[in-house]
Amino acid sequence: MEPVKVGLLGLGIVGGGTISVLRRNATEIARRAGRGIIITHASARDLKKPREFSLDGIELLGDPLELVNHPEVEIVAELIGGTELARELVMQAISNGKHVVTANKALIAIHGNEIFEAATRKGVIVAFEAAVAGGIPIIKAIREGLAGNSISSVAGIINGTTNFILTAMREQARSFEDVLAEAQSLGYAEANPTFDVEGIDAAHKLTILAAIAFGIPLQFEKVFTEGITQITIEDIGFAERFGYRIRHLGIARRTSEGVELRVHPTLIPERRLIANVDGVRNAVLVIGDAVGPTIYYGAGAGADPTASAVVADLVDIVRAFTTDPGNRVPHLAFQSDALSYEEILPMEEISTAYYLRMQALDRPGVLADVTRILGESGISIEAILQREPVEGASFVPIIILTQSVQEKYMNQAIEKLEALPNINGRIMRIRMDPLA
Ligand code: NDP
Ligand code: HSE
Repeated sequence: MEPVKVGLLGLGIVGGGTISVLRRNATEIARRAGRGIIITHASARDLKKPREFSLDGIELLGDPLELVNHPEVEIVAELIGGTELARELVMQAISNGKHVVTANKALIAIHGNEIFEAATRKGVIVAFEAAVAGGIPIIKAIREGLAGNSISSVAGIINGTTNFILTAMREQARSFEDVLAEAQSLGYAEANPTFDVEGIDAAHKLTILAAIAFGIPLQFEKVFTEGITQITIEDIGFAERFGYRIRHLGIARRTSEGVELRVHPTLIPERRLIANVDGVRNAVLVIGDAVGPTIYYGAGAGADPTASAVVADLVDIVRAFTTDPGNRVPHLAFQSDALSYEEILPMEEISTAYYLRMQALDRPGVLADVTRILGESGISIEAILQREPVEGASFVPIIILTQSVQEKYMNQAIEKLEALPNINGRIMRIRMDPLA
């Protein structure tokens, strides 16, 4: 049988990885798919740019729309990124009756509802395994492997760049900027790395995970999002003294009050598996009522790991060519007319324990003021640490771990603490989670 012809939009990190994996494993991929899968056409911004991989046998097109409209292309792989051009190209591919594979989490999180509706109408597949957690087949695991469960939570490290940075800050005491530059040079970071370090990329991914886990629509705008730019090496050290690691987590949890959707740095007990996931690795804990807790671990970014997911999607699509579109696995795991519209809780309504770090004047009565304000806000202290003053410094760091309290009460307490004349500057607050 003729090989399946794929048009590749984007020849960057993931595009290059996809070409390389498809070539390297061509025979095994054909044995799995039942047909060979080859890239016949590709498009990029600068076709003259030198590439580290061979483009032999691939027709290069300057206009990506030409690729999407090309009659020979059967599957379009969108590996450009961004949400405007990518949306236009994907919608055009669907309208042309072509199946689509994408690694673009921003596109799916923001325009996924519209894209999947159009794809379902047209009877084509839009596959997006590479969009979440790089090479870990987490979409397939939740959507298909855990289809018998009622899932109560999905939580984990879902951005490789931030985990790479936090790991290097802890192990090598390197500066944030230095490690970010290395993550960029290794191809882990987004084109705009603010998306990584401010948590936006993780929020895109969490939006997708929550939709397929709980059967809710994609609701990126409702995810509470905080990045890692305020985390210092000091915080990492203090957390360790209490037996915790700081990880940047995405947490989607179903409670009796509503659904929590949040991305933020989190102190987790160091004995947890996820606390020990280092570098660019991702790990996701999924809890189902039947299966109990399950953990998925692997490379969260990079050329080959991401290509692993892109190629798996291509194989899935080829296998599904002749299936009845009405009986395929639904894009977002649940049938599109069976979504539930549970309330997404605002962060103020969510309860967590907290790590607080403040700079206090080394003077009698200061600690009493701090504990009084926390007590008045109904916040119980779990542990407290006051460091001895460094010679010549008038302020000392005080670290407090609290018990669980609603975020709105913590906000009120922090406002009062920051107004104390003996407290200098802003109070650092990091949420805690037992991940149990
Ligand atoms: P790169 O920046 O390395 O590659 C982007 C590619 O798209 C480049 O080849 C670029 O062309 C091309 N491109 C950009 N704009 C246009 C345009 N206007 N017209 C035509 N081509 C264009 O990105 P990545 O490969 O890292 O990421 C691609 C997608 O995969 C993104 O959605 C990203 O979020 C996602 N992803 C990335 C992962 C990673 O580890 N890097 C992991 C998982 C997902 P040119 O080369 O000429 O500049
Ligand atoms: N920039 C992303 C990350 C790529 O670091 O996780 C993988 O989605």
